Amino acid sequence: MSAVPKEVFTVGAAAAKFIAKPRQLLIDGKWTNAESGKTFPVINPATGEQIARVAEGDKADVDKAVKAARKAFETGPWPAMSRSDRGKLLHRIGDLMLKYADELAELESLDNGKPVAVARAADVALSADMFHYMSGWATKRHGVTLPVDCLYTPGVQYHSYTRPEPVGVVGQIIPWNFPLLMAAWKLAPALTMGCTVVLKVAEETPLSALRLGEIMQEAGLPAGVVNIITGFGETAGAALAAHPDVDKIAFTGSTEVGRLIVKAATNNLKKVSLELGGKSPNIILADADLETAIPGAASAIFFNHGQCCCAGSRLYVEQKIFDQVVEGVSEEAKKIKLGPGLDPSTQMGPLVSEIQFSRVCGFLESGFREGAKAIAGGKKREGKGFFVEPTVLVDAKPGMKVVDEEIFGPVVTAMPFRQFDDELVRQANNTIYGLAAGIWTRDVSKAHALAARLKAGTVWINCFNIFDASLPFGGYKQSGWGREMGEAVLENYTESKAVTVRI
Ligand code: NAI
Ligand code: MG
Repeated sequence: MSAVPKEVFTVGAAAAKFIAKPRQLLIDGKWTNAESGKTFPVINPATGEQIARVAEGDKADVDKAVKAARKAFETGPWPAMSRSDRGKLLHRIGDLMLKYADELAELESLDNGKPVAVARAADVALSADMFHYMSGWATKRHGVTLPVDCLYTPGVQYHSYTRPEPVGVVGQIIPWNFPLLMAAWKLAPALTMGCTVVLKVAEETPLSALRLGEIMQEAGLPAGVVNIITGFGETAGAALAAHPDVDKIAFTGSTEVGRLIVKAATNNLKKVSLELGGKSPNIILADADLETAIPGAASAIFFNHGQCCCAGSRLYVEQKIFDQVVEGVSEEAKKIKLGPGLDPSTQMGPLVSEIQFSRVCGFLESGFREGAKAIAGGKKREGKGFFVEPTVLVDAKPGMKVVDEEIFGPVVTAMPFRQFDDELVRQANNTIYGLAAGIWTRDVSKAHALAARLKAGTVWINCFNIFDASLPFGGYKQSGWGREMGEAVLENYTESKAVTVRI
């Protein structure tokens, strides 16, 4: 791994122009300052320096945004729009995201720290695709007719059917690991169902969603349908979760805050969906094709610097190939080039923030204190920016924080297992989380048998981190409630109405 380069990498003219002026809140179709007039800095994690300023929205602004979303939901062009036109509008948003893909990727890289090429190929491409995919559901979501023989009105005939209706005003709170993609995952299904939205973006990474706000306006989205609040979790986020006129809250982030969201939602019993943490097992059986399994296990943890809720952070390797796999994954880790996201040669950028950087370093220290050993990495980078080396830990056991808790950094614990048996299943499921799992084997029967027994919302076999707009994604156990993406996510934004007519 080379040292972090000294050169300053700059963004293109469009992104430079976007960050040059303080960014405001989007409320009722207008860009406005926070009621308090306050702003806060956006930090480049590769340098620790301020790159922009954004409005610090809080409760007063959330109130205004909810009012605008309510008005847009009940009256005006949005509820009057045909499903076909709604679909076309969503499709246009996807098209415009691709038109501005380079600018969006640069903003994402600058703000979050991820390599610009990854932001372009993954974050921006998948975000646009989410709008394209969801645009089709606008015209395809339909109710059913149901046979009804009401027992206490014998002989009377009824015609009964269901109507899938939008749940109403939706509050959405998103994290910083995939800022644009999380906005797209949340906004596109809510909009295709005809909901209106107040989106609270992560304070660490507000830029790309604000640019998306402009893009949605350019696509012709009516005022008030999407309102965007930049601000902090404890103020703006908490106000949104507790708001009595919000019908549904969708949250992605820590399990700890997920619990607060549930509590806040109890006042008006708004609907809640949650996509929370993970500690996903990635299991390599002795018969696996190690030429794909080893780089696959490395990318399962190191993609997005380990800042993935589904990261393959507990690597279970069958005893007889343990040393070979640990050595292989460690070699992969050592090859990864750290640097600023805007450097085209960078393979792994900094962690998103100083707080996240100290959190991950704290996990490493606790791991070493408790007896874990680093075969690769294990250190932070001295100097500017929030860089942590891709790390492979061995001699780690359940009961240690590095094995039990979500680190959300480029740190994998490799642990041997004796063979494919019940004990392996028990170990893999020995976590409060249940988001994802990986299995590497050439044995089709073992692969499917194991897939059925893992308590996880997603199982990848001989691959990892494979995402598509059509695939439902979400967690068992404390990884959350409900699913994102696919047809499944539409449930989150639907009220189903049963209508019965006497014939
Ligand atoms: P967080 O859960 O605090 O932040 C996520 C979002 O929730 C942000 O928009 C934040 O402003 C908002 N928020 C925070 N407190 C809130 C509150 N009381 N009410 C309403 N909204 C609130 O996550 P944080 O602090 O950024 O990261 C901590 C850990 O959470 C990470 O180390 C990681 O383990 C986990 N995490 C999981 C993510 C996932 O994709 N499942 C994403 C981000 C973090
Ligand atoms: Mg937090």
